Amino acid sequence: MSIPVIAFFNNKGGVGKTSLVYHLAWMYRELGLRVIAVDLDPQANLTAAFLSEEKLEEIWLLHKQPNTIFRCVQPLLRGIGDINTPLLEPIAPGLALLVGDLLLSGFEDNLAAEWPGCMDRKELSFRVISAIWRIIQRAVQLHQANVVLLDLGPNLGAINRTALIAADFVVVPLSPDLFSLQGLRNLGPTLKRWRLEWTERVHKNPVATLKLPAGRMQPVGYTLLQYWNHHASTDRPAKAYQRWIEHIPNTYRQTMMGTVNETMTIDQDPYCLATIKHYKSLMPLAQAVHKPIFQLQSADGALGASIQVAHAARQDFELLARNIARNCKSYRMKTTTS
Ligand SMILES: Nc1ncnc2c1ncn2[C@@H]1O[C@H](COP(=O)(O)OP(=O)(O)O)[C@@H](O)[C@H]1O
Ligand SMILES: [Mg+2]
Repeated sequence: MSIPVIAFFNNKGGVGKTSLVYHLAWMYRELGLRVIAVDLDPQANLTAAFLSEEKLEEIWLLHKQPNTIFRCVQPLLRGIGDINTPLLEPIAPGLALLVGDLLLSGFEDNLAAEWPGCMDRKELSFRVISAIWRIIQRAVQLHQANVVLLDLGPNLGAINRTALIAADFVVVPLSPDLFSLQGLRNLGPTLKRWRLEWTERVHKNPVATLKLPAGRMQPVGYTLLQYWNHHASTDRPAKAYQRWIEHIPNTYRQTMMGTVNETMTIDQDPYCLATIKHYKSLMPLAQAVHKPIFQLQSADGALGASIQVAHAARQDFELLARNIARNCKSYRMKTTTS
């Protein structure tokens, strides 16, 4: 059985994608799964969240192992071969990172140039376009993984198109503002187009032994990041944000599923996987010690009430992890029975 590959994507930056992937990677590991976190954003923020600067210097500047995602695709770029084996960075037992790389941006043009070549049945085009998926599948075998989480940059470029083709499922992180909603409006038609274009191409594969991704990128729901000035005493968002929040269930349905449900609110919406608390200064604190918020201890500097908040975060992230797993499973059941 294939392992679920879940992409976290919205072409709006700063909505908490990377923080989500980081925390969920730790959470799925706590729930007993073997996890691979893959950093496909050339900004490499996920990699910086997991690894110290000294470690990054060793990998990026001194070219020590593990190899980065860029080094995995490098032979294709040079025209001297196929993908390199992904050597993962062990983060903790059961949790490994496919290290990101600023140089990955150099693959963007190549991916864009080879996309039309698939229509002409060119083998190299198929090798380039499927590279990220094939690297992930190899990493899954090497790590014996049960789940793969992909962190993507905020754009609709060729790297993300290839990354999404490599994904079975897509989670859309949102924040309650116009930009995030506009990103969501853009996303649905783009995913639909990419799915169709890949379906046209996949049958033209000239090499029977070259395995290709199905390109499902099935939307499983969204998360909503609370605003920092979220009203703590009533636990209700300020009015200005409320109006964007009200639009979310229908905008999500319209753009991702082509349906509407005028009466749906975010609290009742099964596609709302979680509202994510704004952890304020706890987030930079967690980043500084390279831990998820729910593993923070007083020795890390989480004092007084914030230690309670850190502990409560464990339940919130566990619920989110379980909601994502539930929505992925229910889609799988639908496809096998339909
Ligand atoms: N739940 C949260 N609470 C507090 N700060 C957060 C939260 N999620 C993200 N942030 C902060 O917001 C900024 C953007 O988050 P990030 O995860 O990098 O978003 P993206 O990957 O979508 O650009 C970062 O500085 C991050 O620390
Ligand atoms: Mg990011």
